[in-house]
Amino acid sequence: MTRLVIRGAGTHDVDWPGRWQAWERQSRAYLPQREGCLATLTTTLVRLAGQRPRVLDLGAGTGMLSAAILDAVPEARCAAVDLDPVMTEIGRRTLGDADGRLRWVDADLRDPAWVAAVDGEFDAVVSLTAFHMLGAPRQASLYGELWHLLPAGGVLLNADFASCDCPRLRDAIERVEADRTQAAIAAGVARSFAGWREDLEGEPGFAGLLAERARRFGATKTDSILSASEHVASLRQAGFAEVDTLWQDGSIRLFAALS
Ligand SMILES: C[S@@+](CC[C@H](N)C(=O)[O-])C[C@H]1O[C@@H](n2cnc3c(N)ncnc32)[C@H](O)[C@@H]1O
Repeated sequence: MTRLVIRGAGTHDVDWPGRWQAWERQSRAYLPQREGCLATLTTTLVRLAGQRPRVLDLGAGTGMLSAAILDAVPEARCAAVDLDPVMTEIGRRTLGDADGRLRWVDADLRDPAWVAAVDGEFDAVVSLTAFHMLGAPRQASLYGELWHLLPAGGVLLNADFASCDCPRLRDAIERVEADRTQAAIAAGVARSFAGWREDLEGEPGFAGLLAERARRFGATKTDSILSASEHVASLRQAGFAEVDTLWQDGSIRLFAALS
């Protein structure tokens, strides 16, 4: 347990690693296929960007993807970008700076000024289930910003929801995944997202962070899931020369793009 002083919220005990693990469990319940995706992502990262990649993790949340990369690639360095103070505080308090290999960046990916906030050079950009939260037009313009950010030969590995172009197949995939998640929640393996939020709201140590999150994000939901062909078309339009789906399981696809 560490002690955190949050403006106006007093001092409270928070089990940060416990919260980090709870998010991990929850993510696994929603995306049990995640492990295969992470394995493909990390091995491809090394193949394309070498053993010492400078990696930018967008929408990093608690830093789960960065942590997986730092574990799998001992000489990698990551910059973890997110706007949500709840997620990043859990990550910061649990992972710290990973012996100088992990940097946390507080930035809003809806605003092109995020690039200046990140301030660094990168061989690879990675992301796990984050871009869809930005809305369709913003995802396309972000791909453009990444093409400018990466050097020639740089790599983008973006794992996110991508809907199937065929409506009946899309419905079937969505139902299979929803049933699987419900079963995991019913079995007590993980909380629903609503349950996760309620747990945090029940802890005084999170009050200040939750208020700050609400202020930053507002009430407007911008989530928008692109189809796989829309992702590929946007990446090509952004300037990426080689684009393909590297891995897929159900609604999650790992898109790779080389600049
Ligand atoms: C579903 S979570 C995934 C987090 C992490 N990549 C993982 O797999 O555990 C999506 C993340 O995107 C972040 N995000 C959403 N909108 C954002 C924005 N405008 N700027 C920065 N991060 C954002 C959220 O705060 C959240 O941490």
